[in-house]
Amino acid sequence: MTSPLFSTPGNTVLVTGAGGGIGAAIVAAFLSNGANVIATDANQDALERALAKVEGGEKAVTMSMDVTSEKDIERVMDAVAQRFGRLDALVNNAGIKSAESLLSGDKAKIDRTMEINSGAVLLCSKLVVHRFMKESGGRIVNIGSSLSSQGAVFNYQAGGADYCFSKAVVHDLTKLLAYECAPFGINVNGVAPGIIDTPMHGRPREETEARHAGRIPLGRVGSPEDIAGIAVFLASPASAYITGQIVHVNGGMLMNG
Ligand SMILES: NC(=O)c1ccc[n+]([C@@H]2O[C@H](COP(=O)([O-])OP(=O)(O)OC[C@H]3O[C@@H](n4cnc5c(N)ncnc54)[C@H](O)[C@@H]3O)[C@@H](O)[C@H]2O)c1
Repeated sequence: MTSPLFSTPGNTVLVTGAGGGIGAAIVAAFLSNGANVIATDANQDALERALAKVEGGEKAVTMSMDVTSEKDIERVMDAVAQRFGRLDALVNNAGIKSAESLLSGDKAKIDRTMEINSGAVLLCSKLVVHRFMKESGGRIVNIGSSLSSQGAVFNYQAGGADYCFSKAVVHDLTKLLAYECAPFGINVNGVAPGIIDTPMHGRPREETEARHAGRIPLGRVGSPEDIAGIAVFLASPASAYITGQIVHVNGGMLMNG
């Protein structure tokens, strides 16, 4: 039997970017813990394809939602209110890879990276807090990035300077929101993945392994499932006294604390 301390039965959880590697794994983990999951993505086809491969994926409510569109978010929240009446957790997972130089990169691309990876985390959180969580509390889990948020642009990581900038903002935003949300009983935490084998890397796992595994103390790149468990933990009763924290899940590639 699953311990109630570490699971989320009957909770309603909204996951963004659920058509991607990490998002789909997070959906699967919440479903297997008995949660109602609203799985959203800007790319509806990718969402349907990803969840078709996930065990129990058919139990998720799938909806198209661009995280930068207030109209889309409101439409999804209306559906949540109608169907479940409440929202217990939001996982801000949607993100894009980008590799622009801050000094000489394409401004439109940099703005887009910041809008999706950082601005939308605030937008979704704000709307969800006002609509659902201010009254009954809740959990927000933001997916940041381990290597990319440390002020260093390594030539072996996925993104460039604009991506790093966007993820550093996610980590700071997590702490600032945690402070503002605490009086409402809302815990806000971040998960900072290391190198995780997903479509974001745009190459087969063996190539990602060959490129990165030698620099990872645990000797392998991560799988989306390596990230999913901590997202469930941060929405479960076991993490009730944790807020404003960034949990690095990176095989030891970078050791913080
Ligand atoms: N894979 C890694 O190594 C890694 C490392 C650190 C952090 N991350 C972060 O993890 C999160 C998930 O990444 P992933 O590796 O699963 O990537 P992925 O490309 O597999 O999935 C990202 C998903 O986000 C969706 N998306 C993009 N723009 C969107 C928008 N405007 N609105 C809604 N959905 C949108 C995409 O359609 C896609 O399905 C991202 O925030 C990413 O930055 C990934």
